[in-house]
Amino acid sequence: FGLAIPEYFLDIEDLAVARNENANKFSKGLLQLEMSVAPVTQDIVTLGATAAHEFLTEEDKKKIDMIIIGTETGVDQSKSASVFIHNLLGIQPFARSVEIKEACYGATAGLDFAKNHILRNPDSYVLLIASDIAKYGIGTSGESTQGAGSCAMLIKKDPNILILNDDNVCQTRDIMDFWRPNYSPYPYVDGHFSTKQYLECLETTWEEYRKRNNKDLKDFEAFCFHLPFPKLGLKGLQSIVPKGIDKNLKEKLLENLHTSIIYSRRIGNIYTGSLYLGLLSLLENSTTLKAGDNIALFSYGSGAVCEIFSGTLAENFKNHLRNNRNEDFEKRKRLSVEQYEKMFFEEISPDENGNVEFKNDDSLFSLKKIEEHKRIYKYNPK
Ligand code: CAA
Repeated sequence: FGLAIPEYFLDIEDLAVARNENANKFSKGLLQLEMSVAPVTQDIVTLGATAAHEFLTEEDKKKIDMIIIGTETGVDQSKSASVFIHNLLGIQPFARSVEIKEACYGATAGLDFAKNHILRNPDSYVLLIASDIAKYGIGTSGESTQGAGSCAMLIKKDPNILILNDDNVCQTRDIMDFWRPNYSPYPYVDGHFSTKQYLECLETTWEEYRKRNNKDLKDFEAFCFHLPFPKLGLKGLQSIVPKGIDKNLKEKLLENLHTSIIYSRRIGNIYTGSLYLGLLSLLENSTTLKAGDNIALFSYGSGAVCEIFSGTLAENFKNHLRNNRNEDFEKRKRLSVEQYEKMFFEEISPDENGNVEFKNDDSLFSLKKIEEHKRIYKYNPK
């Protein structure tokens, strides 16, 4: 399990001041504190490669025969971002590399495909990446929920961290709550309608999940949610906790919910990655979870497709997670609102031959230039 975030962030209070909003609306109303900001040289490819680089060994690279990237902010309408990542990471050549799209749900579909692939090919590994840069535009109602980052996971027969259970329940609803037509750089969103749909999809899918699997909240130590903004995870949990539930169970679920939103409060929405960011935050920060504990997960992609599934913590899972993630947050550079507006919304404008050279970015992976409309990436081993 790896995570990559860009090296810049915006403090949400600075945004509130600039937009003439009460800062409490963002920090208390949405539970958002900071937002990750990606420069033009960081995209879903560079962030995805960085997240996977965090844990991949040379042995893993020989065993991976499938790379799946879930994203809704792809860099090309035709070529999959995972083909670039395959090359940047030096994965063995006889691999399948694809990109999956269904708003913030894509990576969850990828997880299930990966699981089925491993069932048929027990000795192979699948690299699953959830990578997105969430931009709503300056002055929009979604602006305070933007973010950028990537989660990467290695899916294999004997997992080190989470063992997936076979209890998935999905739901599809043809709705227009959030979408981005090909001609638009930013999504259209019906904000309040989208949160209503998210909660309704959660409640109805949870009902079906309980029926089909004969499981209930008491069977889980924690519930992780897709986090378009952290407060929605809290609202999600509250919406499925019945009146009269055991007080200790409710407290435990609430405490773990708060642990699961620590990272997203400082990063913002990373669309397909945000559920997995919540899971990582829970696993890296919890001091009470132990092997054998069950965790439920709710994935939601606008449009809409959602899924509830669960996993069981593996023996010694903590040994495979970082305990110093805060260092990455502390290293980030804080931007002024003016710098953020310039950086986050910089457009790539190639000349008439399709060429553009970018300012040097000395991150591990970066977009160096575009040459005859081809993206050229740089690997800068440290
Ligand atoms: N102090 C404390 N709280 C305050 C406050 C203050 N001074 N002022 C307002 N608030 C609270 C409000 O009461 C509200 O909380 P509740 O919902 O609990 O009542 C909260 O702050 C937000 O206030 P508004 O609803 O007035 O905010 P808004 O209308 O400007 O925007 C939003 C909210 C619609 C969620 C907007 O951020 C948005 O459009 N976000 C993008 C869409 C989104 O994230 N949708 C989620 C579901 S879709 C999905 O999940 C896919 C995806 O990733 C996009």
